[in-house]
Amino acid sequence: MDDELTRIQQSLKTQLSAISSLKDLDALEIDILGRKGSVNLLFSKLKDEQPEQVREYGEKINSLKNHILQEISLKKHQLLESSEKSSWVDTTLPGNAPKPGSLHIVTQTIEDIRDIFSRLGFIHMSYPEVEWEYYAFDALNMPKSHPARDDFETFFVETPEHPTYGKMLLTPHTSSGQVREMLRVKTPPIRMTNISRTYRPNWDATHVPMFHQFEGLCIDKGINISHLKGAIEYFVQEFFGKECKIRLRPYDFLFTEPSFEVDIYTGSKNIGRAGWLELGGAGMVHPNVLKEGNIDSSIYTGWAFGFGIERIAMMRGGITIPDMRIMYSGDVRFLTQF
Ligand code: DAH
Repeated sequence: MDDELTRIQQSLKTQLSAISSLKDLDALEIDILGRKGSVNLLFSKLKDEQPEQVREYGEKINSLKNHILQEISLKKHQLLESSEKSSWVDTTLPGNAPKPGSLHIVTQTIEDIRDIFSRLGFIHMSYPEVEWEYYAFDALNMPKSHPARDDFETFFVETPEHPTYGKMLLTPHTSSGQVREMLRVKTPPIRMTNISRTYRPNWDATHVPMFHQFEGLCIDKGINISHLKGAIEYFVQEFFGKECKIRLRPYDFLFTEPSFEVDIYTGSKNIGRAGWLELGGAGMVHPNVLKEGNIDSSIYTGWAFGFGIERIAMMRGGITIPDMRIMYSGDVRFLTQF
């Protein structure tokens, strides 16, 4: 019995020194002090001892048990202390600041556009992105045979056709808001911008299927091309800088007559390439379009334009990106630059 007691005590020492985790310590405790552990085994062996020695051995086993409990609890404290040290937190150190987010370059541009036109007394309207063929094409003097109505140019929604408004589609341009605004206001003056997502089925380095346009529409008595030119000039100088000039080149949009393409002269390095760059389309609202909006073209005239937002955002930032799709990739390396 004495040997047994010494053996347990000694092996406890070596076992404890090899232990480095609380889990292993728990396992050892069960091994020694558990119901079927070595200490209980000793107690069960007492019955084989001489009656006069039972008491003495009983006491020895008990004191060994207490010794083991003490050693184990000491080891437990050591382990706890060292694990606390390794996860020590110095609360006086500055914290990890969260990375600040920012508005997408397109959102920033939209806010600037709204702001600039509001200074000219324009209100901002939002018109449907899921639109009827009528507002996107028919009301804009575009015949049924126009190539823009082709499946390859416009996303059509697979729903039954409306008897009056035709097919449902994703609006391919913000011009679809023109007649809607005329019908809403009923009697000019009208001064509105319609800024919206627009959709066309193109997907390559220079096109994304969802992009943004902004439309300006101004209708009143006595409105002419000089007002159009003045408004666009005001916009580009506010947006790009005072050195900016514009020119109108004749073009043929069906919903304006006369129609133009608008170029801006940047001449400045911060707008990317120096020279004339195309901005978008514009013109005097066609009398047929005014008629669809119930506006008497013998009393009222108006102008309209439609420009691409991604395009002007990149021009202003002097950004040339090899692939337009980067804009909508959500890549923070691109996003954090603005
Ligand atoms: N909607 C045309 C496009 O997406 C742009 C445009 C041209 C808008 C002439 C106009 C305009 O308002 O008058 O290409």
